[in-house]
Amino acid sequence: MPDFASRLTAVAGAVEQILDAILSAEPLRGETARPARLLAAMRHATLDGGKRLRPFLLIEAARLFGAHNDGVLRAACALELVHCYSLVHDDLPAMDDDDLRRGRPTVHKAFDDATAILAGDALLTLAFDVMGDEPTHPDAAVRASLVVGLARNSGLGGMAGGQMFDLDAEKAAAPLDRAAVERLQAMKTGALLRFAVEAGGIIGGASPADLAALSDYGAALGAAFQIADDILDAEGEAEQLGKRAGKDADRNKATLVSILGLDAAKSLRDELAQRAESALAPFGPGADTLRAAARFTATRDH
Ligand code: IPE
Ligand code: IPE
Ligand code: MG
Ligand code: MG
Ligand code: MG
Repeated sequence: MPDFASRLTAVAGAVEQILDAILSAEPLRGETARPARLLAAMRHATLDGGKRLRPFLLIEAARLFGAHNDGVLRAACALELVHCYSLVHDDLPAMDDDDLRRGRPTVHKAFDDATAILAGDALLTLAFDVMGDEPTHPDAAVRASLVVGLARNSGLGGMAGGQMFDLDAEKAAAPLDRAAVERLQAMKTGALLRFAVEAGGIIGGASPADLAALSDYGAALGAAFQIADDILDAEGEAEQLGKRAGKDADRNKATLVSILGLDAAKSLRDELAQRAESALAPFGPGADTLRAAARFTATRDH
């Protein structure tokens, strides 16, 4: 899909520029100082890497409703900041204990554990600063709705909650059943991916019916995405992934690969990607880029 690939690259370039500006050394009004070491760790975590799929989904969902401006890009970057924070903490020795991320040493390896914890904290709070600040959208009610959505999908009942289930499962006496793994994955990974498309709809002023269709799409894509991640962990190489492979089996992670086996996991991944595409029916050909994003989620090699 050459068209999709070039679009993803173009979005990644635009996102990189905004993130670079957001993570500048210049304190914002109301800030006192930006410590160089903390800023360097945040830039290490955020810049020059990653597929930028969540920003892409937000931007393409907003575009369905004719919204494409700098505010949309800012919202997309806010979401990416939460994602980058989640990776920094996910890699910590107390969590997945990884030393390679996006082809580089993880933040706690390049800096130290305390700095990585603080970099995650500061990325998360910066995300809410960016999402809630005026340049993101002229309507304060829309900004409030984006901020609340970001909070719900990042926190206790979303990504962080899913990470808790993920860590608990490593030590569980009996393997989790399929429904429990699906819930865990819908939270730790699905919540932010689903919110990416919902946020695009919120910015674009989508109707409740359109928002529901986007939500179905995002949920199916999110599920496919984490199964693909687990398959890549089982079959891929560190060089291609930019992170270590084979770590889920080593750490006794609860995944659909561990429960269903590789072949059934691949079928389910493809079925979910297909379900995501089908959810876009109300949008017609205008949603072809989002359809391609669902296929990319299933067929990606990193
Ligand atoms: C990795 O996400 C973590 C998961 C949620 C599985 P991505 O595969 O989107 O990571 P980057 O942003 O491209 O590095
Ligand atoms: C991470 O899932 C999900 C997050 C919320 C960061 P994984 O632990 O499988 O992600 P990788 O494989 O380290 O990227
Ligand atoms: Mg993890
Ligand atoms: Mg991990
Ligand atoms: Mg993984």
